[in-house]
Amino acid sequence: MENNNKPRVFSGVQPTGNIHLGNYIGALKQFVDLQNDTDCFYCIVDMHSITVPQDPKQLKETTLDVAALYLAVGLDPKKATIFVQSTVPQHAELSWILTCNSYTGELSRMTQFKDKSKGSESAPTGLFTYPLLMAADILLYDAKFVPVGNDQKQHIELTRDLAIRFNNKYGDTFVVPDYKGIEVGARIMALDDPTKKMSKSAENIHSRISLLDEPSKVKKSIMKSTTDSDGIIRFDVDEKPGISNLLTIYSVFTGKKIDDIVAEYEGSGYGQFKKDLVEIVNGGLEPIQSKYKEIRNSEELIKILKDGTEKASAAAEKTMKRVKEKVGFISL
Ligand code: TYM
Repeated sequence: MENNNKPRVFSGVQPTGNIHLGNYIGALKQFVDLQNDTDCFYCIVDMHSITVPQDPKQLKETTLDVAALYLAVGLDPKKATIFVQSTVPQHAELSWILTCNSYTGELSRMTQFKDKSKGSESAPTGLFTYPLLMAADILLYDAKFVPVGNDQKQHIELTRDLAIRFNNKYGDTFVVPDYKGIEVGARIMALDDPTKKMSKSAENIHSRISLLDEPSKVKKSIMKSTTDSDGIIRFDVDEKPGISNLLTIYSVFTGKKIDDIVAEYEGSGYGQFKKDLVEIVNGGLEPIQSKYKEIRNSEELIKILKDGTEKASAAAEKTMKRVKEKVGFISL
């Protein structure tokens, strides 16, 4: 179940455009930090993205965009297996088996489903069963850790419940995974409204900073970000969510502790702090963007994804053999 005695890690990102600082800080940066000491599988989850309507031509492009971003942020294909979900059909296969071992009640309680369906009878069924495909992704690879932002925590808890239930019913089959979050940045907030999480789909482009944003756009988004009127730089998520969010971003990009940053800016106003943050974020994005440009249209990218499919398929097939045996499917 583990390669080279390194624990298995699995995570995924949907190939919708606008991969932003929240995705980077909550997930991608963790992926990179984990690649030396774990046996990691990082997926571009295109099957999840079709739970809401997608333009097929664009989906192909955004799938490659996210694959290129994985490499641009520093994932090394020699250390991490990088692949596209739909190229490994076992994800759909296991998802069905988990569907038959889940309850409609537990799926109805998922906040993401409640938010996205808004109680509508015409919400796509895929939105409802989305967490089962996500559980299949994780369980297929015997992942012990799942690095994600805090908005995905409930889905990991459901995955744990499903694994435990299946193991109890059929005998030991799945590794029960753990959520792996970070202390600082597990939930990056929208720049225009720091009471909401930064999201790919928000209408206001200044609510987020996308990893491929031009420096001038980054400057505009940070300089006009919503803070409070008392002008004191202090970390207090409840009372001062705007500046606290900016402090978090500052801390992640510089590696400095939030307390030290607060001390450094004692007596300064938000203006200077924001100006410095613009420089810091643009400085951090520059190498990501140049690596992205270098790799996005390369043959190498396709080769890395093909190799990833091969490695992922081998691991997935091993699990499926075990699962099919347990549920009583014949092998011919
Ligand atoms: P997705 O594509 O919405 O987001 C990708 C990752 O980014 C994190 N994230 C954030 N972290 C901090 N602050 C934010 N504002 C923020 N917004 C997003 C997400 O938590 C996620 O880690 N269901 C998943 C994709 C998925 C998956 C999986 C993840 C499918 N199968 C298996 C882990 C394991 C999703 O929609 O992520």
